[in-house]
Amino acid sequence: MAASTKISTALKMLLCLLLFIPTNQLCAYAQDDEEIPKVGIIGGGIGGTTAAYFLRQLFGDKLKVDILEADKIGGRLALINIGGQDYEAGGAIIHPKNRYMVNFTEQFGLHRKDPSKDTLGLYNSKDGLFFKTSSWKAVTLAKLFWRYGWDVKRIQDWVAEMMGSFERIYDYQNQGMAFTNVEDLLRSMDESFINYTRINCRTMFKDAGFSDKFIDELVMGGLRENYGQTTDAHGFVGAVSMAGVEPGLWAVKGGNKKVPESMLKASGAHFNQAVVTQVFQVKSEGGTVSYEVQYLKTDAKQGEEKEGSKEYDILIVATPLKSESKYQIQFEDFPSGLRLPNVPYHPLEVLFVHGRPNKTYFGVEKLEELPSNIMTTDTEVFFNKLGIQSPVDNKEHLKGKPDQEEGYGVWKTFLNKVPTEKEVGSIFDSRKDLRLVSWKAYPEYTPNMELPSFVLHDRLYYINAVEAAASAMEMSAIGGRNVAILAYNQWFGHFDKIDEHTFPSAKGDPAFTSEGEGRRPDEL
Ligand SMILES: Cc1cc2nc3c(=O)[nH]c(=O)nc-3n(C[C@H](O)[C@H](O)[C@H](O)COP(=O)(O)OP(=O)(O)OC[C@H]3O[C@@H](n4cnc5c(N)ncnc54)[C@H](O)[C@@H]3O)c2cc1C
Ligand SMILES: *[C@@H]1O[C@H](CO)[C@@H](O)[C@H](O)[C@H]1NC(C)=O
Ligand SMILES: *[C@@H]1O[C@H](CO)[C@@H](O)[C@H](O)[C@H]1NC(C)=O
Ligand SMILES: *[C@@H]1O[C@H](CO)[C@@H](O)[C@H](O)[C@H]1NC(C)=O
Repeated sequence: MAASTKISTALKMLLCLLLFIPTNQLCAYAQDDEEIPKVGIIGGGIGGTTAAYFLRQLFGDKLKVDILEADKIGGRLALINIGGQDYEAGGAIIHPKNRYMVNFTEQFGLHRKDPSKDTLGLYNSKDGLFFKTSSWKAVTLAKLFWRYGWDVKRIQDWVAEMMGSFERIYDYQNQGMAFTNVEDLLRSMDESFINYTRINCRTMFKDAGFSDKFIDELVMGGLRENYGQTTDAHGFVGAVSMAGVEPGLWAVKGGNKKVPESMLKASGAHFNQAVVTQVFQVKSEGGTVSYEVQYLKTDAKQGEEKEGSKEYDILIVATPLKSESKYQIQFEDFPSGLRLPNVPYHPLEVLFVHGRPNKTYFGVEKLEELPSNIMTTDTEVFFNKLGIQSPVDNKEHLKGKPDQEEGYGVWKTFLNKVPTEKEVGSIFDSRKDLRLVSWKAYPEYTPNMELPSFVLHDRLYYINAVEAAASAMEMSAIGGRNVAILAYNQWFGHFDKIDEHTFPSAKGDPAFTSEGEGRRPDEL
């Protein structure tokens, strides 16, 4: 039966090509053939689980989809337990306009964590803590205005405009449109986004009229905090980093990893706890490609590792493919070769200290004068940021500022390398507990870096290509849905919904559907 379906599909396709009939109209071949693929997804982070969720929506009940995950569902969304309380050890903060994260949280009945009242400090190697916001909003505004002038207002307008363009991706995706590479995905939102990836962040903000002081302090501090990098990073990631100036940043109560956990459940995907080691390309006589995935599974009872394998019609890689990966995947039997992306990842150390900061180091008389979040603005300072944490479930006793009497709190520090005992001692004068979490956190962002393809090979997809634009939970969700739609459109031959740049206007307006490739309505 499968064979005859394939032949008729091929025939229809051929007819469509010969008769030049738009494939979306008469030739929705295979769609009614109930030929539903078997899909494998390597990686159970927010990217892989989002893909599974949307694949289910697209292909329906009959889809068989597996998620192969080496470690825990959530990946870089993970918790660490300190003193009986859980804290975010990876991705922590969500932007209010991150529509997928907002929607998923609501849809799965999850809640937002109580916002903490943050004050911000800027620290550099020369002057120490040189700027502090106040818990009074008006005072903060006045201070910011005094130091940075109109740039304070301008950045908010600039970010609002950028977010406006960014949000176009949701319209595309809601209309079933997908992109084969990061460049086309960015271009669909705004032509200038591509340009931003080709220049450094300093140049981008300078061209937009921002002052050196603003760039060297606030933009730099933001990039060090969010990406462990400097204003030499490319402009697009710098823009995403600055999106945090908009109010209303939030996190999921109980931990952000609850989102991928809920997505996995809702997707009905089969969860296979296994380390994928090898992927083989398999070609049928008819030339159809499928993939054999080999993996190692630890037997719970005997504790020994066992090999296993499974074949998929469509395979989705939902983890960064990088040479220094903990779980390397070998790709075999690709006679025409397989060019893997080459995007290096930034090592980041997250140090949790349950302790008391050194007042002298920060030049404050009382600990309560210390800002709850301190960004550092030059690479001479050995840490990128320092901030007090509240547990993911709003438990009271460790919330907010360090306990005044004891001066203790749980502080999170980001560093580009493991600190020495002396360095830790210099910023904390006493401590009860100390934990280090090491990540290959996000790409190393440089102007003109490779923007990889979402397609590694026929029916072999790569979600984490999207991280070359910017790494964030929402970006992986967008990448995950993009790959789900792309796989679906390619499977059923909806080629008109792939790499189509015309901005989709109000639903179904024929003027903007298929003609005028590569142009926006405002240019037509
Ligand atoms: C310290 C830190 C702070 C961050 N802060 C923020 C923030 O505030 N806001 C924000 O939006 N983003 C933040 N991010 C980025 C965000 O966490 C990531 O962009 C996002 O979680 C990536 O999700 P993913 O699903 O694409 O990849 P991952 O979460 O990395 O998922 C990949 C999964 O694949 C699994 N895997 C890998 N290899 C194999 C194999 N061979 N076989 C089987 N399974 C395999 C891994 O175990 C992992 O679970 C932060 C990241 C870090 C590290
Ligand atoms: C979010 O959910 C709302 C209501 O369910 C829906 O209308 C909207 O399209 C969703 N947004 C996205 C980006 O999918
Ligand atoms: C992007 O850069 C190209 C080439 O430098 C330029 O021609 C184009 O006008 C730029 N586009 C935008 C929107 O800035
Ligand atoms: C606190 O910081 C000061 C100034 O940097 C330093 O001289 C002192 O040794 C630090 N205290 C501890 C306990 O390390």
